[in-house]
Amino acid sequence: MVIDTLAEDPLDLAYSRSTLPSLWSDAPTGSTAEQWAQAWRRRRTQLVDALGATVYGVTPAGGGLRSSTLISECAALGGTALRREYELTVEGPRGTHTFDLLLHLPAGVRGPVPVFLGLNFNGNQATTSEPGLRVDTARRSEAVVEHEPGGRGVRVIDRVVLDANAPIGSDAEMWPAREIVKRGYGLATAHNSQIEEDRPFDRAPGVGSLFGDDAGWGVVGMWAWGLSRALDALELAPDVDAHAVIGVGHSRLGKAALWAAAQDERFVAAVSNDSGCAGASLFRHPGGESLASIAEVFPHWFISTLRDYAGREAELPVDQHQLLASIAPRAVHVASATEDRWADPRGEFLAVVHSSRLFQSFGARALLPGDASPGMDVCPSTAVRIPTPDPGTSVGDRLSYHLRAGSHRMVAEDWAHFLDFADRILTP
Ligand code: GCU
Repeated sequence: MVIDTLAEDPLDLAYSRSTLPSLWSDAPTGSTAEQWAQAWRRRRTQLVDALGATVYGVTPAGGGLRSSTLISECAALGGTALRREYELTVEGPRGTHTFDLLLHLPAGVRGPVPVFLGLNFNGNQATTSEPGLRVDTARRSEAVVEHEPGGRGVRVIDRVVLDANAPIGSDAEMWPAREIVKRGYGLATAHNSQIEEDRPFDRAPGVGSLFGDDAGWGVVGMWAWGLSRALDALELAPDVDAHAVIGVGHSRLGKAALWAAAQDERFVAAVSNDSGCAGASLFRHPGGESLASIAEVFPHWFISTLRDYAGREAELPVDQHQLLASIAPRAVHVASATEDRWADPRGEFLAVVHSSRLFQSFGARALLPGDASPGMDVCPSTAVRIPTPDPGTSVGDRLSYHLRAGSHRMVAEDWAHFLDFADRILTP
């Protein structure tokens, strides 16, 4: 990889301890690999706690999957796949809630298969062009916003309620199941709004209601909880390799996939596509959506105190390289798109760069120059600027990144990188 000279922006300098919160509060020195790994286990718990306390809210304990009921099963995709629909009932201290899980598995494979698990925006029926699935009625609202001229600030001027009754196959481009099963993987998906509606107020009871209004977690956290319950259900399917489930998501649902994998160590890896602010992108990097904007337009996604840091990002006790790192020693792939300025591709790549030394200590390929020392999260050499990889290429192995030419979407080209990533991390 080509290394540039110093950049103006201090965050662009790899491993600038002064500008980003450290991956380690106290880096262990002189330890054995086992002592070091134990120290990381403790540290990653602290990071997850801090991310909960600062960004997403703390996920309440005391709930789980009550039952998973098969409601349909058939051959699909021209006989190349087996398609199943499950109704999941989840429970918490205050009751139960149900949502549907759609699963495509490669037809006729022997033995359990690895599966990508991700939430979708418009209902399971929208993810496939083949009919016959249950259509749910969960709603979401989109904010109508006014952007400050030339700035990163926004003001909400209206909220429009959208029905999730999207047509069959309308999002099929985002979920290329035929290609996924051809490569030997399963694909599981559930509708985010069926888990918890995507609206700041007047939400129909979803998983949040299982714990009460004062539980203090945001909707991204509720979606992440739903992903973990879907994983509970996949663990019950004998033809799914539950040790090889990769959490995946686009945009707000990429934020949820990362947060789910950070908290739930059963996910073998996470894939974030264009997840941007409060996803893979650094809050402190000055590009794309600001904390002020996301807290104004989507207050329901996070803990209410996140907005206190609007314009004061430098004071945040956490940043998103810590979210990526907290998934280690498991694997992470981050994807950006060149025209998706709102998700801040450079800020996403820098979060990868700033977590990479940690992944490297666990055996990932180096993305940075210099020697990797276990426990180190500061580059020993002079600060350097690492250019964002060229569109179309992927860098790294267990921590990897690609930039696609194009806009804010999740398409076959992204999936080709996700599938290569899965092959890399799961092939012995
Ligand atoms: C908005 C929001 C982003 C989010 C995106 C999406 O653009 O500002 O944070 O990622 O919606 O989910 O599509």
